[in-house]
Amino acid sequence: MNAKRRTVIAGNWKMNFTPAEATAFINEIKPLVAGKDACDIIFCAPYVTIAAAQAAAEGSHIKIGAENVHFAEKGAYTGEVSAKMLTACGVEYVIIGHSERRQYFGETDETVNLRTKAALAAGMTVILCLGEVKEQRLAGITKEVVSMQTKLDLAGVTAEEMKRVIIAYEPVWAIGTGLTATPEQADETCGQIRDALCELYGKEVAESTTIQYGGSMNEKNAAELLSKPNVDGGLIGGASLVAAKFNAIVDAAQ
Ligand code: PGA
Repeated sequence: MNAKRRTVIAGNWKMNFTPAEATAFINEIKPLVAGKDACDIIFCAPYVTIAAAQAAAEGSHIKIGAENVHFAEKGAYTGEVSAKMLTACGVEYVIIGHSERRQYFGETDETVNLRTKAALAAGMTVILCLGEVKEQRLAGITKEVVSMQTKLDLAGVTAEEMKRVIIAYEPVWAIGTGLTATPEQADETCGQIRDALCELYGKEVAESTTIQYGGSMNEKNAAELLSKPNVDGGLIGGASLVAAKFNAIVDAAQ
């Protein structure tokens, strides 16, 4: 973490929690994180669960986001949701480019870029996910991969819009696997993403952009990961479904 940048601890609920379960979870975590405002706290929820989570979070500093957004304003895109629909529901944050979307639902850097631009144009804040797969890390090309993703995914995004972009560095091999990048690996790769931002936008934007680490972050490893200067928060899957675990990560960020 670094005093120059906002620390953001975000949960990615993925395909978990009915509205009633989300309400119960938020009611449980709300008192635990009350007053812990050294970091922003966001839970990204399935579309059908957002309203219940928002209602439960009212009066707290917990924000509720979405897990994806389509790039078109409206039209024949069965199963998709537009940025206008999300903002109409009071949703300010959205995850884009998660590796599960890339892996299982055919999303590419091109569609991730289109979704990012659409969300930003609608005034939303984007949590842009990127990261290398295992073979790329083993081949020693992680830096090239994350630099290229950063450039492709942010093509056409202005320096002004970068104030509403959070990057989540998520090594694909660490997601949901129980394998975590070492704090050194996380710091190094977040730094490489920051270098790519510097090339694109200059030092000021690069130094002020929040870059989270994601991939099996939990109550045990969070403090060490967050102690690294280039790691400005976490995007948390599994451990965001258990209030005590998520609260411990928030504590590590205080
Ligand atoms: P995990 O998921 O914490 O369960 O590894 C992280 C993510 O996919 O964002």
